[in-house]
Formats: sequence, C-alpha cells, structure tokens
Amino acid sequence: MTELFTAPHRLPAWTVLTANALHLADQPLAAFFENDPGRAERLSLNFADPADPGQSVLIADFSKQRLDDDAIAGLIRLAREARLDEGIRRLFSGDAVNFTEGRAAAHMAMRGGCPPPPGHGAKTHAMRAFAFGLRDGTITGSSGKPIRHLVNIGIGGSDLGPRLAFEALAASCAGTDRPEIDFVANIDPRELDAVLARSEAASTLFVVASKSFGTAETLANAKAARQWLRAHIGDDIGAHFAAVSNAVEAAAAFGIRPERVFPLPDWVGGRYSVWSAVGLPVLVAIGDAFDKFLSGAAAMDEHFLTTPFEHNLPVWMGLVGLWNTDFLAIESLAALPYSHGLRSFPAWLQQLEMESNGKHTLRDGGRSETATAPIVWGGVGTVGQHAFHQLLYQGTRKVALDFIVPVGADEPRQRALVDNALAQAAALMAGRDLATARDALTRRGKTAAEIDRIAPHLVCGGNQPSTTLLLPRLDAFRLGALLALYEHKIFVQGWIWGINPFDQYGVELGKEMARALATGQAASQDASTARLAGLAETFRQRTG
Ligand code: F6P
Repeated sequence: MTELFTAPHRLPAWTVLTANALHLADQPLAAFFENDPGRAERLSLNFADPADPGQSVLIADFSKQRLDDDAIAGLIRLAREARLDEGIRRLFSGDAVNFTEGRAAAHMAMRGGCPPPPGHGAKTHAMRAFAFGLRDGTITGSSGKPIRHLVNIGIGGSDLGPRLAFEALAASCAGTDRPEIDFVANIDPRELDAVLARSEAASTLFVVASKSFGTAETLANAKAARQWLRAHIGDDIGAHFAAVSNAVEAAAAFGIRPERVFPLPDWVGGRYSVWSAVGLPVLVAIGDAFDKFLSGAAAMDEHFLTTPFEHNLPVWMGLVGLWNTDFLAIESLAALPYSHGLRSFPAWLQQLEMESNGKHTLRDGGRSETATAPIVWGGVGTVGQHAFHQLLYQGTRKVALDFIVPVGADEPRQRALVDNALAQAAALMAGRDLATARDALTRRGKTAAEIDRIAPHLVCGGNQPSTTLLLPRLDAFRLGALLALYEHKIFVQGWIWGINPFDQYGVELGKEMARALATGQAASQDASTARLAGLAETFRQRTG
C-alpha cells in the first residue's frame, strides 16, 4: 500500500537533530551531569501502577544517554513531524498498520489493551479451560493417566515469548502440582531427544505452537514426537497433542483433534503472540497470575495510547534508540538483564527488534536512507561481566546498553546483583583515564617503569550510553508491562523509519534455499554451497 509518507531524514527536525548530535558527540557523558543536579530526575520516567499510583511499576533512567534537553525536544518534534500520533491511533483502532500483508497488528486485543479488529473476537475461553484442566490434573492421556508433562514445540515467536515468561514467572508462582514444562525449538534432534529421554509417554502432552503450521523445524519435531508416542503407547495418541495455530485445518490434518486446536488470529504476529493461546504453557505454569501478566501489558498500552510524548515511555525508548542508531551511528544494542528469570530476554528482544525493524524497504516502496534496527545482542548480568564486558570497556566500538534491573528482596546476593548492575552502568559511562590508571598503580606500589608499561592498558574509554530500567521486583504485572514497553518501542521506531514492523519476508529466502538443498538441488547453488553440500553428504555417509 502506498501512503502519503515522508522519509524521516527529509523532516525538518532531522536536520536540527543532526546538528545537535554533532555538538554533543565529543562531550564526555559524565560531563552532562556537571552543573545539572536535576539531570537524573529530569531524564527519568516513572511508570506507575494505574490502580495504585503510589506504586512504581518501573522507572526508566535515560540520563546516561548522550542527550541534552535540546536533543530531547528535537526527537519529540521528529515524532510529531512523522505523525506518530496518527500511527498510534491507527495501531490501536485496528487499521491495517501491517501494510504489506494488509492487516491489523492488534496483539494488544489479546490482553484487553484495545478492541479486536472490527468483525473479530479475541476469545481464549477454550484454551483457558484446557490450561486449568492441565494444572489440576483432570486432563488425561489415552490410558487415563493425568498429563504431568507439557512439551511446547515451537520456534521464533512460538517459543521465545512463552519461554521467557515461563522462566521469569514460573518459580515465583509455585504452589500447585502443575505439569512439568519444557520448550523445544531447534530441529537439531538432540534438543527433543533430551526431553524425550526423561519423559513418560502416558503422561506427556505435546503442544505444537505454530501460527502457520508450516514451519519446517516445528513440523519435523512434531512428527518425531508423534513417532515416539506411537512407539510407546500405540496409535491412540490424540489425547497427547494440542496445537496453537492460525492454520486450524493444517493442524487438524496433522491429526490434532479440532477441540484441541487453539486459534491464533492472523492479526497477532508471531513475535507479539505470547498474550494469545501461544501463552498456553505460561498459563499452565502460573495460573491466575497470567491475568496480571496481561493487565501489566494492557496498562502499558493505555499509557502509550494516552500519554503526551514528553512523558510517554515507549515513545522515549523508541526515540532514544533511534537517536543512538541514526544520529550517533551506534550500530548495536546490548540487552543486559540483571535477573536469572530474564535470561532469555536478550533472545526475545533480538527477534522482536531485528525481525520487526531489520528492514530497508519504506512504506512508499523506496529504500531507506537511514539506518534501521540495531544489532541486538546481550546476556544476563552478572555473567556477562566476566566475559564480553571487556569489549564494552576497552574495545573500539560504541554500544548502546539497556540495563534491566529488578531490585527484588533484601538478600545479600540479590543486593550484590543490583549493585553490580548500577556499578556497570556507571563505570561504562565514566571510564578510566590515564592519570587515574597511573594513580591506581602507584597506590598498588608499582615502580615507575611498571606504571609506564601497564597504565595505558588500564585505560577504559567509558562513554557507553545506557538506559537503566529499574523494577521494584519481577512479577507478572511488571513483566507484562516490560514486554509491552519494548513492543511499542518497536512500533515507534518502525513508524518513524517508515518500515513495516509486522512482516518478515526476508527470512523466507533462507527457507527457500534450504528446501532446494533438501530436494537435492545443490547443483543449482553457487559453487561454494554445492561443494559444501557434497562434503556434508560424504561426511553423512561416513557417520552412518
Ligand atoms: O521464519 C520466521 C517465523 O515465521 C517467525 O516470524 C515466527 O515467529 C517463527 O518463524 C515461527 O513461525 P510459526 O509460528 O508460524 O511456526
């Protein structure tokens, strides 16, 4: 669909922001705090619980970003010139903001954050009844034995969201004798085989989660699970399968009972689907707390829809990311959750950002002349501190950082975890200059020659810009709000860049190549691939 659209770099605010960035580029980040005692507070947004405004859901501190008040004003002006208000209104009113596929992106409807698109419903009653039946053990396998093990087979959005929410929340929502839950994503046989090796067929249920019901990895694993079931309990395996899909007929053709196929509407994108029936394993794991998860996200929806840009958290997140990407030429974003429960957050965010906004074709069909999604990577703190943080301190690249820090209980290790997060953000901003390095070595009693030799290697560049998201604790409501915050951040950026965050045509190319190889068409590939395919075949024959 061709729309009236102006590429962002042609908007007046872009020129002003380019000048702002030039002016700010060389200033040490720490200098932004000098003579500005109000900076930390002024550049922080508190997202309060709408039901209890005294309670903070999360606080976002942007003061360690390379931003001054003029740059912030310029970014908000850019959002206005890009008609972001219209974009948000269209997103929430069920318009076809997924303009290449001609449909709405109304995942918010699954959590009550907006009405479903006209003529549609967002009902999940059947899936809920099923999930609670699994929790209380009334759903049985073919022998009458209660299902006590759920294996979610899915990949991408049919895996990462529910896996993250499960890991983040299941431990704190214990108390019921619910089924064990596993996630299997990869077509690498070892992943499913490892789960099967500790499963009892009579009490195991496989949930095949696939919006398309056509994803090669998921179907291959589902077939392997089916074979395994048949080998263990015979052909009566209908009670051991359920599916979550938009392709209800394909799921039925696979042999899944119609009442066990829980629909996923086409207007819910895979990477935005944890709120829908794709959240089935999460609902089984946490029960009623799932409603809190949904309501936290819905609260963020309401905030995004109704709050002026100056105080709007997803708008700030989107604009700050765009500032780093386009004006400061920072090519990557590291997501650093200081929470074992959020260990899968970087992988989830990677798909959300890179599959949504890793694109170059604009709304009008032209090619983007600005950079779009950054390379997203990261890892859980404090583990990363003992590994890749070295590059953040002394490498040659600028990296934008998101620290995600649930404060949690007053317990020594938990305290140390939070202290570490705050210390890393501070140290990566401040760095260490040569004089400080020399002083440190002097204090350690080093000789003058040693100081000359070692001090340059202690210098840390600092000036890595970061946002810190501080949460009082990690609970279902807050996790919902956090994930919705990032979802809307992506929308803000996609809208301003003029790309469609809701399709993923790019990934199809690799799938086509894989199909060609699988059907023996290696000869039609480039010489390197054809040779490698031949070698792989040789190795395969030798391995047997
Ligand atoms: O190939 C990419 C992709 O389509 C993602 O967008 C999606 O989340 C994932 O594969 C899984 O797709 P499905 O749920 O249709 O199996």
